[in-house]
Amino acid sequence: MEQTLVIIKPSAIERGLIGEIISRFQRKGLNIAGLKMMQLDEKILREHYAHLVDRPFFPWILESMMATPVIVACIKGTDAVSIVRMMTGATNGRKAEPGTIRGDFSVSSQENIIHASDSVENAIIEINRFFKPEEIFDYTSVAIKFIYAPDEH
Ligand code: PPS
Repeated sequence: MEQTLVIIKPSAIERGLIGEIISRFQRKGLNIAGLKMMQLDEKILREHYAHLVDRPFFPWILESMMATPVIVACIKGTDAVSIVRMMTGATNGRKAEPGTIRGDFSVSSQENIIHASDSVENAIIEINRFFKPEEIFDYTSVAIKFIYAPDEH
């Protein structure tokens, strides 16, 4: 099964949305394989947003992402990377479809509630960036046969 990385950003922490966001993924049928609160620093943000360090708004990303601790989550399921991206919505909350997390809770490109890995390759890199191996748990929900057909997981 695939695993993907979600960061619940300070914009969600400050607005009391941690439970709402985790609940959406669980209600979908995805599994939480890892979950923790951490304070991000400039070093990890420069690595995570390496493709954006030369953009004029990068200093604002640093300020925004360090404003409070964040929650990092490793979310697991068949096709988890693409499902979580669909549930996340477009980067700009003003353009994100209603029903998506950003479409329902954001009107901003910066204060856009969560980060979600954009590919299976990047998900592996990002999970390793934010979690130690022993912080990721391999367990199977007893409800699995009510979530997937036998050939789907
Ligand atoms: S890009 O430009 O195609 O690389 O954009 P994307 O991959 O969607 O990621 C952009 C991330 O930067 C954050 N951010 C902003 N994007 C656009 N404009 C402004 N002003 C801005 N400020 C911050 C945006 O939230 C994306 O973060 P993540 O965590 O990847 O969603």
